Amino acid sequence: MTRASELIYDELGRSFSGKSFISIHDYSTEQIRRVLDLAQLLKKEQKAGVPHPILKGKTLGMIFMKPSTRTRISFEVAIWQLGGYALFLSSNDLQLKRGETIADTARVLSRYLDGIMIRTFAHSDVIDLATYGSIPVINGLTDMLHPCQAMADLLTAVERFGDLRGRKLTYVGDGNNVAHSLMFGGAKLGMYVTCVCPPGFEPDPAIVAAASEDGEATGARIEVVNDVAQGVAGADVLYTDVWASMGQEAEHAKRIKAFQGYQINQDVVAMAKPEAIVMHCLPAHRGEEITDEVCDGPQSALWDEAENRLHAQKAILALLMS
Ligand code: CP
Ligand code: NVA
Repeated sequence: MTRASELIYDELGRSFSGKSFISIHDYSTEQIRRVLDLAQLLKKEQKAGVPHPILKGKTLGMIFMKPSTRTRISFEVAIWQLGGYALFLSSNDLQLKRGETIADTARVLSRYLDGIMIRTFAHSDVIDLATYGSIPVINGLTDMLHPCQAMADLLTAVERFGDLRGRKLTYVGDGNNVAHSLMFGGAKLGMYVTCVCPPGFEPDPAIVAAASEDGEATGARIEVVNDVAQGVAGADVLYTDVWASMGQEAEHAKRIKAFQGYQINQDVVAMAKPEAIVMHCLPAHRGEEITDEVCDGPQSALWDEAENRLHAQKAILALLMS
């Protein structure tokens, strides 16, 4: 038995089989650690040229209702490296566009595929797909959550710092889907997650409450503040994302005004710990939420983070679909 098979086929590994990955909140600390352990192993194997066709002959459908560079390519490469096959399904070309329901789409796709990844607007689309289908559904971003991104971010932080208990991640910017999933992920691993947002752009209080509750078991602390200096002090990880997410393009000008003072620039990086790393889920609007100097500077972990989408998602796919 290979080490990867041990991680996939022991009792903890089997607890994922056939499940969907919609929110990190749905998984235990042990399960989240398992995803990260498997991701690290698969990354090492891939770099050493060791093949791992864990999902040989399996197919993943990838429904996109919003654009994507990283998610589309990393999932497609992930399933290919696992021995399976990916189908890119643009919602523009599916009968979804002409009114076929998510429920019927789920019923039909479940007869052809072994798993579905979906990027959409309404979080309820992902829930419906999982409810009416009979195969694992992976959330590739909704207006509410971006769990695969947060898993790649946690993997990146684990690679740099090891155990993340008591490490402080400060997210500066819009309390959006990425911030929500980082709170859930950080809570599971005992991190201190601080969201620094302008008034009116704080994360959903229900998600803050749920993450805080998760954190009671792990020693995590979740907080939301409006003051950048206060939130960034002592941070090990500084994180930001665009000020206007997909679907909010019409608010861009208004948001640029509201977010003045919430940019991660060299002055803000200097307020964190000297060994702090900077993350951004990308795509970045350079010059808005983050400067060129920080993106391309010595503390940037952006490209490792982007690469880790591949490794984290391979672990998720292998655990759910085998
Ligand atoms: N970070 C992320 O999800 O990137 P894409 O929108 O390019 O997939
Ligand atoms: N918050 C951003 C993330 C993009 C990967 C969005 O939803 O557009």
